[in-house]
Amino acid sequence: PKKITTLSMAAKKRRGEKITMVTAYDFPSAVHVDRAGVDVLLVGDSCAMVELGFETTQPITLDQMIHHCQAVKRGAPNRPLLVGDMPFGSYEYKDVDIALKNAYRMVKEGGMDAVKFEGGSEARANTVKHVVEGGVAVLGHVGLTPQAISVLGGFRAQGRTAANARSLLDDALRLQDAGAFAVVLECVPANVATAITEALEVPTIGIGAGGGTSGQVLVFHDLLGMLSHPHHEEFVPRFCKQYARVGMEITNGLAQFKEEVESGAFPGNDYSPYKMSKREEEMFN
Ligand code: KIV
Ligand code: NA
Repeated sequence: PKKITTLSMAAKKRRGEKITMVTAYDFPSAVHVDRAGVDVLLVGDSCAMVELGFETTQPITLDQMIHHCQAVKRGAPNRPLLVGDMPFGSYEYKDVDIALKNAYRMVKEGGMDAVKFEGGSEARANTVKHVVEGGVAVLGHVGLTPQAISVLGGFRAQGRTAANARSLLDDALRLQDAGAFAVVLECVPANVATAITEALEVPTIGIGAGGGTSGQVLVFHDLLGMLSHPHHEEFVPRFCKQYARVGMEITNGLAQFKEEVESGAFPGNDYSPYKMSKREEEMFN
């Protein structure tokens, strides 16, 4: 299968074909997302929340992100475009060389094809430009930008006033001008996402942004119901459709294992494969 590139993504938008993106954080999730034929695999800093159990995306470090990127690369080395999130604190400085150096680490150590930055201010666009000029492809991300939680005050939809929607459009255009190959739109009204998609040449990838974007992204754990359980509520964002209840399968499998060990049904003869020859057995007895 052919490698997905920033160019093939642009071609998809031109042809009106939807782009698919799903997060992956480790070897098995990368294998599954690749086998499903999804275009773009995002090692999101949502890793901090869904894999590491933090309340926000802020705590995860660049070294930790790279560790996850490496596992994802081993799970999906050939076909999908691999994008890694630059974590909070790795790219926001006036010195844009810090961002470039850290982007190089995501590529050279993490094996990523591209990186993602949150935000679309002039300062951020300047950073994006520097990183693209340094040879690393950049995916933009505007709307709800979870790393800014302490400034935003909570995980909330963005662009819900005419003025805010216009400034989101400005942000997206700025990122495109700076060289971003696509822009993620998170938690914005569908009409705003559609308008931004029509205004941009490069593709948009929506999450909680309606059906008018060039593609869709969801978090692996959310779309598969990784924490679904027969007796515990699982938090799932309102915009996320759950396509499976994998957590239920996990609970069932583990409960059966426990029960069969305690009853003596497992391993039994079927799962006790190693035998001595008769002769050795007699000598041993
Ligand atoms: O970290 C993440 O999973 C993301 C996507 C939701 C776009 O940034
Ligand atoms: Na992210």
